[in-house]
Order: sequence, then structure tokens, then C-alpha cells
Amino acid sequence: MLSRDDVFSELGIGPVWRLRDRPDPSSTDPHRARHYTWEQLADAVAHCTACKLHSSRTQGVLGVGDRNADWLIIGEAPGADEDRLGEPFVGQAGKLLDAMLASIGLTRGENVYIANVLKSRPPGNRNPEPDEVAACRPYLLAQIELIQPKLILALGRFAAQNLLDTDEAIARLRGRVHRFQEVPLVVTYHPAYLLRNLPDKARAWEDLCLARRIMQSLV
Ligand code: URA
Repeated sequence: MLSRDDVFSELGIGPVWRLRDRPDPSSTDPHRARHYTWEQLADAVAHCTACKLHSSRTQGVLGVGDRNADWLIIGEAPGADEDRLGEPFVGQAGKLLDAMLASIGLTRGENVYIANVLKSRPPGNRNPEPDEVAACRPYLLAQIELIQPKLILALGRFAAQNLLDTDEAIARLRGRVHRFQEVPLVVTYHPAYLLRNLPDKARAWEDLCLARRIMQSLV
């Protein structure tokens, strides 16, 4: 039987998502992905009030790039520039991320999708809090389910520890292959950290090469 969204898409209208139908992420098990379409997900993030960050953010920042990408890059949370422009990694850290991607032959938006653990900016760029991470988790899980990436690259301690559900230090998490659900996951330093700690760029390069090797072995 055709769903409502199937019928609308047959009619060329696209999914219709009325306010009262909008999933409330706070009312669900944060560890299970909801079955969103991209349109539903974008709408849910744009109107999300599941945590206190909604009152201080300019907009929800869902992610950017190729929705069928093999590579999924996951950072921490939008900063001031991202909150203003609605796209992840557009500030100085974003420029470095683009350079890191270019170093292994990748371009933002081409076979690469970039997202964050949190979709709303924590005020003053403070660290995300556990209730905020839990409230946002269904959105990240839904993104992973929609994209079906071949490999996840976790940027920085915060993304790595949350995705791997560990408090191990990043120095111990990087340099090896983990799994998120079934997807291979590689940890590297956050570009904002690398801007302040240039010597670790060499280690980040090793991580990127590891990720590239894994990807090459998968395709
Ligand atoms: N840092 C992040 O983790 N994500 C962004 O989008 C920008 C900076």
C-alpha cells in the first residue's frame, strides 16, 4: 500500500509534514533511529525544541553534502559561523577540514557528507551537555540510516567519545579502526584543535591515510 508520502511524491508535491505530525525526538528512545525522509529530517531539525539550545540558536544545522556519500564526516556542534550560515564547518576550522579532505582527494559535497553530533550551537561555544546530545541523537542516527556511508570519520574527542560511547582519550582512539553499528569508523583530531596544535597535523594525516586505505579496501 502506498504511504501518504508516496502518494504526494507521485503527485510531485513532496512529503507533507504537518506540525502535529512532527516527530518529537525527546519522546523516543534516543538510541533508535527514526525512519525519516530527508525532507522530514530537515523539517524536524529546523523546528526542533527538544533541548534548551533551540532558544539561543539562530537555526538548526542539519549537515551538508552528498546524501549518498561513502564518506560521512562528523564533528561536534555548529559554531558561530555555522549557526549564522546554516552549514557545518564554514569557519577557519572548516577551511582546514576542506584542506584535509583535499589531501586525500576528497571535495566537500562530492561523495562526502558533513554533519555534527549536535545540530544547534551551544551558546558561547561551550561544550555540549549530555541531555543535548541525547536529544539530538535520533537525528544523527537518521542521517546515518539515510546516507548509509561506507566509512565514518569522527573529528575530535567529543564526536569520537559520543559515537563510540567511551571516555577513552583521543590519543588512544585514533590510529585504529572502530565500528559504529556496522560502519567502520576512524577517529582523528578536530580541525579547530589542529589549528592550535600544528605538530599533531602529521598524526591527523596518518589517520586520513588510514581512512583512505579502509575505503579503498571496501570499494
Ligand atoms: N566545529 C564543529 O565541530 N562543527 C562545525 O560545524 C564547526 C566547527
